[in-house]
Amino acid sequence: MKNIILTGDRPTGKLHIGHYVGSLKNRVALQNSGKYDEIYIMIADAQATTDNADNLEKVRSNVIEVALDYLACGIDPQKSTILVQTQIPELCELTFYYMNLVTLARLERNPTVKNEIKMRGFNAGIPVGFLTYPISQAADITAFLANTVPVGEDQMPMIEQTREIVRSFNSLYGETLVEPKELLPSNKTCGRLPGTDGKAKMSKSLGNCIYISDSPEEIKKKVMGMFTDPNHLRVEDPGKVEGNPVFTYLDAFARNEHFPEFWSDYSCLDEVKEHYQKGGLGDVKIKKFLNSILQEELRPIREKREAFQKDLPSVYQTLIEGTKKAREKAAATTNSVRSAMKINYFEEMIKN
Ligand code: TRP
Repeated sequence: MKNIILTGDRPTGKLHIGHYVGSLKNRVALQNSGKYDEIYIMIADAQATTDNADNLEKVRSNVIEVALDYLACGIDPQKSTILVQTQIPELCELTFYYMNLVTLARLERNPTVKNEIKMRGFNAGIPVGFLTYPISQAADITAFLANTVPVGEDQMPMIEQTREIVRSFNSLYGETLVEPKELLPSNKTCGRLPGTDGKAKMSKSLGNCIYISDSPEEIKKKVMGMFTDPNHLRVEDPGKVEGNPVFTYLDAFARNEHFPEFWSDYSCLDEVKEHYQKGGLGDVKIKKFLNSILQEELRPIREKREAFQKDLPSVYQTLIEGTKKAREKAAATTNSVRSAMKINYFEEMIKN
């Protein structure tokens, strides 16, 4: 069996450093590991419409931003196929057939959907398309016969739902689709970076994100304004490391090599933590260190992004070619789905 990856992001904003440590870096490593026969990275703009029907401009304008973020971080179109979901109508067709294999109650129980509904507080009721997006996500995954889906922990219910759909399709119509497995980030800290304000999640609407495309000045301003331990008022006070986002970011980004270069008073992060917990180490010094590290890590990415930004026609070409290739694969799967369901009448009529 082929090893095939599919994963993606909703284009509702530029990608931030949480995406970078939680998924983009890992995707690049998987891409370069040579272990996968095919890799598809989806800009899930159709899924993004499910809660943005009244503001499609947000989705439209971010398709290219996400593509730039991908390319800047090292997604290589020679190795990974970047595709735009709305331009592959076969995904809608698969969604339509799969809808008959899922009950309303099962969708309403999906923890990710439940949580997102709560967060969005849909005033005029829940759009049907939003409630059913796990089915469309199952179409995304199965259309490419993906067996591996690198995602964050919050997406596990989606993969479970996909497996259920695959099992019921295959048992009703014969072995056609592939059951996927999630591939979770190996490092817990990297799985979810909190916002600069200490809130559990980075989110555009909270204004607590550091973006991959941020300027050096923006990065510095955001880092120096980060939430820390609110009880660490004076330098002499003992400080808390757990739940302190500055330390969470350091856990995700700091390496021992950074110390001789940026902060030779210490040789590793554990020493810094120990000093902070004992008291006598001020937040500003730690933030300056974090800033140096982030500046160094993000500079080459930002420069690459700026270069792609100056050559948008080549980025458009990458999206057009990737989507064309992806559509061929999705169309082939859709054909086998139609044959399995024996609704490929016309093919049969021509044969007879
Ligand atoms: N639901 C994912 C998210 O919100 C995005 C997504 C859409 C996706 N289709 C996918 C992820 C298929 C993995 C596989 O981040």
